[in-house]
Amino acid sequence: MYQTLLVSIENNICTITINRPDKLNALNKTVIEELSTALDEVYSNTEIKSAVITGAGPKAFVAGADISEFTALNGEGGKALAKKGQDLVFNKIENSSKPIVAAVNGFALGGGCELAMACHFRLASENAKFGQPEVNLGLIPGYGGTQRLTQLIGKGKAMELMLTGNMIDANEAKQLGLVNYVTPADSLLDKTKELLNIINTKAPIAIKHVIKLTNIAAVGHEDGLQKEIEAFGELFDTADAKEGAAAFLEKRKPQFTGK
Ligand code: COA
Repeated sequence: MYQTLLVSIENNICTITINRPDKLNALNKTVIEELSTALDEVYSNTEIKSAVITGAGPKAFVAGADISEFTALNGEGGKALAKKGQDLVFNKIENSSKPIVAAVNGFALGGGCELAMACHFRLASENAKFGQPEVNLGLIPGYGGTQRLTQLIGKGKAMELMLTGNMIDANEAKQLGLVNYVTPADSLLDKTKELLNIINTKAPIAIKHVIKLTNIAAVGHEDGLQKEIEAFGELFDTADAKEGAAAFLEKRKPQFTGK
């Protein structure tokens, strides 16, 4: 039924696995659309009490938005990409009344880190790596990263990670509060499901209100996500963003000019 996802339901837990391991599970248009459909099922299927999102293969959770789709985008296209992703997936996860948890099994970069951060909380395997490397491409996070990273780890460290594009490992992510648990790779899903099994015994309406109110507590400026979409779009009209994506795809260092 899905081209890019594996979806299964067991013990009232829906497991959504992003399944493009040869591209490190990068989020292309199809993944975004299929995630949206899978999330609609989480919302509507009464057999599902909670969900986990993870990535296929040993190497990556999600290594970001699919950079090969960036080369054709101008400002309007960039803005539409960010808005569509936020509406169809990232905000839909955050606003779900059923808990959705990320089991981060490797690289969670760019849109991958943002996908994990849109989830209600995160667990990571020991080999997980987190980062917002968009500046390397002449871009910024466009799926909520400027807002949610700051909410989760505080302004100073969020600023450092987004300005340098540096990656952090799972243990540092735990120290910063970005993930709640670090486990060996082969027990990541078991530990995640152990927590969801506890949550699934609680009253669904209480769960729904905890999620809603905790989300309210975490939000700063209400229009932050919208401002991010606009800035992300504007960058696609710059020469540097074109150079950044081309350099990645050609496996070379970018030459930025400030234009
Ligand atoms: N978009 C599109 N393709 C991607 C991708 C992305 N975000 N991330 C990885 N891939 C592809 C690579 O192009 C490569 O494809 P190929 O085999 O057809 O050449 C494949 O996935 C494997 O990646 P590779 O770079 O060879 O693996 P690596 O172990 O050397 O490096 C990373 C791993 C994660 C450090 C590196 O892939 C990377 O920097 N990815 C981009 C991260 C990023 O900038 N994300 C934010 C996007 S806004």
